[in-house]
Amino acid sequence: MSDKEKLYEGKAKILYRGDRPNTIIQYFKDDATAFNNVKKGTIAGKGVINNKITELIMTRLSQIGIPTAFIKRLSDREQLCHDVEIVPLEVIVRNTAAGTMSKTYGIEEGTRLRRPIIEFSLKDDDLGDPIIPENHILVLEIASEEELIEIMEMTSKINDYLRGLFAGIGLELIDFKLEFGRLSDGDDGHFLVLADEFSPDNCRLWDFETQEKMDKDRFRRDLGGEVEAYQEVARRLGVSLETEDE
Ligand code: TYD
Repeated sequence: MSDKEKLYEGKAKILYRGDRPNTIIQYFKDDATAFNNVKKGTIAGKGVINNKITELIMTRLSQIGIPTAFIKRLSDREQLCHDVEIVPLEVIVRNTAAGTMSKTYGIEEGTRLRRPIIEFSLKDDDLGDPIIPENHILVLEIASEEELIEIMEMTSKINDYLRGLFAGIGLELIDFKLEFGRLSDGDDGHFLVLADEFSPDNCRLWDFETQEKMDKDRFRRDLGGEVEAYQEVARRLGVSLETEDE
């Protein structure tokens, strides 16, 4: 990868310029962080697993009509994506109370919500990704009203589909985070696409039978077995982890 122009290095991924116009390459690292970078570590092989899980999820979502930035996987750790202008919002969906929601409201983790909740955080590490209400998003012109409506419609459809997909392999989709981007239409306009990744790094998955956590909470909470949990999610999804490089 050293000959590629590095555009940005984040906590779990590096972005390089792609070799086609208006593309980028997402390189998935093994680095793991939690609590806004306070806890740092690595999960061996995570980058390969998350790259391949993201490929599968993005491919399936595009098949149900969700436009995505994903183009194709290039190698074990790299995928080619459209270069998009990321909407600086973390779109969080909750089906069951856990994490911040449980802590904030004193609700026991695992309490099923009457209906899914979609909430937004401002994507800004320096500010600690604060929760941002819709009227603030509109007044601060972070996204337009039309965009917010579209983001919520797409997110709801993604949640319905993914809950079913994971339920089919014995996993309950507790909550997750999405990011969207604006993709140029080649003229003056742009349209919204699902961007970034979908992996056990940014969702909570609990085994229906054992209630075991199969996601990054194993790392956040020092539960151990994170490598095995990520591998098991990949295995149940039918994602091969055989190396294809070299
Ligand atoms: P949340 O409970 O708000 O935060 P935390 O994980 O710190 O308790 O997270 C809800 C879901 O969204 C969870 O699956 C993790 C994911 N998420 C991210 O991937 N990145 C983020 O920056 C945030 C805030 C959440």
